[in-house]
Amino acid sequence: MDREFDQGYHRQPYLDLVSGYPDESVYPLDSFRVEWGPVFHRGRLDGSARVLIIGQDPATHEAISRRILVGEAGQRAQGLLARLGIDRSYVFINTFLYSVYGQGGGARHIEDPAITSYRNRWINAIVADQKIEAIISLGQLADQAYKQWLATPKGAASTAAYITVRHPTYPESASSSGQVTKAEAFARLCESWNQLLDALRPVIAPDAVVPLRKYGATITPADLMPIPTRDMPPGLPDWMCALDAWAMRTGDTAQVKRATITVQVPTAARTWPPAP
Ligand code: URA
Repeated sequence: MDREFDQGYHRQPYLDLVSGYPDESVYPLDSFRVEWGPVFHRGRLDGSARVLIIGQDPATHEAISRRILVGEAGQRAQGLLARLGIDRSYVFINTFLYSVYGQGGGARHIEDPAITSYRNRWINAIVADQKIEAIISLGQLADQAYKQWLATPKGAASTAAYITVRHPTYPESASSSGQVTKAEAFARLCESWNQLLDALRPVIAPDAVVPLRKYGATITPADLMPIPTRDMPPGLPDWMCALDAWAMRTGDTAQVKRATITVQVPTAARTWPPAP
């Protein structure tokens, strides 16, 4: 069986970007899990992307698969792109290269010049290389990242449509801090994503024409989309692209938890014969 896979960073300017990435001298260790390495992107870097999505920071599934927005947040975002009729011509980058550690780490460093200038090099590379029709930011920090780029000469010259929407994990983060109930937070996420569908469907040429399907009051498992193998490095098992979660931080102390990601083959993918 032939599979499509992501060919990686084999050409310029991506080769230089992934060789010379900022380390802990730029991303402080008290605010970022630099020890898990940078995770750069997911999607097309071959000139065919028409939608650029800016997320926030990589989590557990991303640290292992080495592509961003692969876990549930990414599957929600993939479902949103599907409703735009975009199933191939997209590229995701994150606001931060490394996973944010601790409360407020992202907000504390969103204005750091070296973080911003490296991210702007990525956005410049993507918009120079591909005909980007729309840019979407997921959440407030990603919106700030976009605005920092917009303030540069190349950003100011961009003609891409822009919209900022709530981050896919807004329901979990907003409800955990007690600001709103989870149900209300899901309703707000859906409302924001429906606004995106209204704004962008008229301005993006879809990969496939799909009927308009607005979100209801919440996001259900049926609204998630698996991650295409063409977005992943070669050889990743299929269950790493599928919907069931397979990676989590584990450990009894903060120190051990930071040092440990447990990867487990989901039950549905345990197709080997049972032990006698
Ligand atoms: N994973 C990412 O890579 N980015 C996000 O914004 C959320 C989860």
